[in-house]
Amino acid sequence: MSIESTLVLVKPDGLKRRLTGEIIQRLERKGLNIVAMKMLKLTKEQAEVHYSVHKGKPFFPGLVEFITSDPLIAMVVKGHSAISVVRNLVGATDGAKASPGTIRGDFAITIDKSVIHASDSVESFEHECPIYFSTDEILDFSYGDEELF
Ligand code: CMP
Repeated sequence: MSIESTLVLVKPDGLKRRLTGEIIQRLERKGLNIVAMKMLKLTKEQAEVHYSVHKGKPFFPGLVEFITSDPLIAMVVKGHSAISVVRNLVGATDGAKASPGTIRGDFAITIDKSVIHASDSVESFEHECPIYFSTDEILDFSYGDEELF
């Protein structure tokens, strides 16, 4: 079993639409552990670092403006194959194409207001996580119910 960590954001649109509880519930019920969580307003500089892989693409300025427009919820989510498991819960980037039952399939209908972000690889997690959390904010915590999943 491969235990991984992934960065999850409830983006400003998801937060303002009061979807934070729904998203946390889906992560928890899947058997994933939340080991860090905070609400913050991202700076332009932080957003440009997070999304540096997209720099130069036509949607980059709008993405930075959108992600910094209002507060968001950041979480570190840990568990068995957490990166791919969370990506599958999230669904395809374009809400119009995301499968029903996924978070974007159920709550998003465009590609830019995508409700949630989740790291797509270990390398992405290692790039993104320090933007949001210092190492001492990530808890060595287990829910203690792992044998039930
Ligand atoms: P996210 O998973 O946070 O990673 C990059 C984000 O860019 C993505 O979610 C989308 O919400 C956003 N985005 C906006 N426009 C596009 C686009 N044309 N192609 C891909 N991503 C886009």
